[in-house]
Amino acid sequence: MRRICVIGAGYVGLTTGICLADLGNNVTLLDTDTKRIAAIKQGELPIFEPGLGELLQQNLRAGRVYATTSYAEAVPDAEFVFIAVATPTAEEHDGADLRYVEAAATELARNLSAGRRTIVINKSTVPIGTGDWVANILAQHAPVGAQYAVVSNPEFLREGQAVLDFQQPDRVVLGSTATAAAQEVATLYLSSRAPIIITDLRTAEMIKYASNAFLATRISFINEIARICEQLGANVREVALGMGYDRRIGRAFLDAGVGFGGSCFPKDLRALAHMADEAGLHPQLLRAVLDINRDQRLLIMEKLCRLLGSLEGKRVGLLGLTFKPNTDDLRDAPALDIARALLEKGVHVAGYDPAGMERAQQLVPGLETVRTPYDVAKGADALVLVTEWNEFKQLDWNQIRKHLRRPLLIDGRNMYDAERIRSAGLVYEGIGVGCPTPPVALQSHAHVNI
Ligand SMILES: NC(=O)c1ccc[n+]([C@@H]2O[C@H](COP(=O)([O-])OP(=O)(O)OC[C@H]3O[C@@H](n4cnc5c(N)ncnc54)[C@H](O)[C@@H]3O)[C@@H](O)[C@H]2O)c1
Repeated sequence: MRRICVIGAGYVGLTTGICLADLGNNVTLLDTDTKRIAAIKQGELPIFEPGLGELLQQNLRAGRVYATTSYAEAVPDAEFVFIAVATPTAEEHDGADLRYVEAAATELARNLSAGRRTIVINKSTVPIGTGDWVANILAQHAPVGAQYAVVSNPEFLREGQAVLDFQQPDRVVLGSTATAAAQEVATLYLSSRAPIIITDLRTAEMIKYASNAFLATRISFINEIARICEQLGANVREVALGMGYDRRIGRAFLDAGVGFGGSCFPKDLRALAHMADEAGLHPQLLRAVLDINRDQRLLIMEKLCRLLGSLEGKRVGLLGLTFKPNTDDLRDAPALDIARALLEKGVHVAGYDPAGMERAQQLVPGLETVRTPYDVAKGADALVLVTEWNEFKQLDWNQIRKHLRRPLLIDGRNMYDAERIRSAGLVYEGIGVGCPTPPVALQSHAHVNI
């Protein structure tokens, strides 16, 4: 049993801390957000992450998880201190805003114990060189006699499957100038039996950015192919399938749709491009990946304009608001940009989401939220699937068609079988799945309930 402190009880910090406690360690979750800490103490998970709430309650009962807002309580006894605070895009440039990391490192340094050795682990996604910078902060603020080492341990979890990703990671990456410290951190992960890569600090930091950039590139690649498919009458779903069987390519992250969002890909790509710019390079591929992704969100607007004509006064329903299913995370969610663009054009926008509605309403004033996917369809001129939640997979399309003012479904994730939707009397429009629907197809439906 090791004594561990995790600074930042968000998606990453909570998952890391609770899962480490579940392995038998003694974990203190430390966050400056008093409401968040109060909720955790009550056994309430302040985020939506499948399976994590149950683990929190079990480990609270077992006395292995403790939550606090006090560095003085959490840090002095810890053998390992993880920093898992947010690193959003800075306001003044595209690079990462390190103010939370700086505050956490400074406060933790002040609370290190003289005469005790502590390993400080950067789990946040941080620009290359941040490990050295954190080591400098520790040197400036730690009490005389405190011993410490800095290890980079980037996180690769996927929201929605975070517990599984912690328990069965594809790999664990550790970087440090002190290899012994990295090896000690490796012992925390031995039960996962995952490959452990020990490297230097900067390389570990870069592995995280390069991994996210590569995955985002695959998404923008297939979205560009989807656009070409649409003009040339090919079906990108089958193209991806045909490509994916090639073992050199693989099938993952080749789903055309409304583009990537969330708290990681967009900001990490921007940060990596910014680092490259600062180094005097021209990160053309990264820029193209971001540009394609921005345009992909507008594609929904283009389709709606083509099929509905003027959008002013129309009603559009959005199925799904979070950036992907099984999370309540709305950071950089495509649905929010689509809703804002529609509202600007004078469209009435209604949305339904199993986990993100309350927050979405705060983020997009004017967005109406409704109680069921069927309510989204009521009186709408078009229904747009934005997030592929499981509960949207088996909707009763006959009922949906009756609710719609015009029988139009835009499948922003290519989730549905086009023929099934068409057989219920709807016009189906996917992303790159054959020639675009001519507007006349929508008007010619005899049963349109306008
Ligand atoms: N969310 C993901 O899926 C994911 C995956 C991999 C990596 N990451 C990276 O992990 C980091 C954390 O991301 P997240 O999504 O968990 O963020 P988050 O916003 O959900 O959580 C961050 C938490 O840190 C707390 N915090 C901020 N400053 C603090 C301070 N000085 N002391 C104590 N607590 C403080 C906040 O109150 C918040 O609860 C980021 O760098 C992110 O890029 C995230």
